[in-house]
Amino acid sequence: MQKANNDELILALSKGRILEETAALLDAAGIALTEDPETSRKLIFPTQNPKVKVIIVRASDVPTYVQYGAADFGIAGKDVLQEHGGAGLYQPIDLNIAKCHLAVAVPKGYDYQNAVRKGARLRVATKYVQAAREHFAAKGVHVDLIKLYGSIELAPLVGLSEAIVDLVSTGNTLRANDLVEVEHIADISSRLVVNQAALKLKRDLLQPILDAFSKVAAG
Ligand code: ATP
Ligand code: PRP
Repeated sequence: MQKANNDELILALSKGRILEETAALLDAAGIALTEDPETSRKLIFPTQNPKVKVIIVRASDVPTYVQYGAADFGIAGKDVLQEHGGAGLYQPIDLNIAKCHLAVAVPKGYDYQNAVRKGARLRVATKYVQAAREHFAAKGVHVDLIKLYGSIELAPLVGLSEAIVDLVSTGNTLRANDLVEVEHIADISSRLVVNQAALKLKRDLLQPILDAFSKVAAG
């Protein structure tokens, strides 16, 4: 098993949005990828810095790799971190990338406020069970949460649920599916997460990268 050792750093990233929006940060820190993960089947990639490698994992798996020290640091959305719980992770920098918000949405014409007022037990489909549970518990609204892994907006269209909790950015996906946002739960962006032991043992390697990320994130 390849595991991070003390004279190298492993950064966990996910393909797609995070990889794209991280490019400027990686450049600034001198750790730009020298191959494109979007066109390769490899999962471990070299960077401009021979001491730093990037591993490509599912977005929701980033905190797990960092928690167990299989990666020293990673970049993950606040949505993903809240579901994971954040155990063993130091979260020093809000990178201000992959910005969106978590919201409750329902089909156009569905009287959500009235259903809530009447104490109806709502079925809510979501990938973000933890965040949804906390949100509805704080409001005292009774819900049955239905865990999905994608295409959340489909659930109310086919009678799987009355409402959804999902990420919204432009609102295009809601509009395309005749859904409307009825509650804004939380603003979301991506954070740098660092393994707590790596922070102590590899500070010399890590600190310049964290400083470069902070500088770019601060604009
Ligand atoms: P997984 O592969 O683990 O299911 P995913 O498909 O949600 O994850 P991405 O779509 O790449 O992964 O999203 C990565 C992160 O980007 C999310 O965790 C969230 O913080 C953020 N994000 C998701 N959707 C949007 C969006 N439409 N606009 C901006 N940021 C977003
Ligand atoms: C995310 C999210 C919403 C959509 C919102 O999906 O799950 O469906 O973006 O963005 P919008 O408000 O700009 O339309 P994504 O594009 O990541 O696809 P996914 O289903 O693979 O998560």
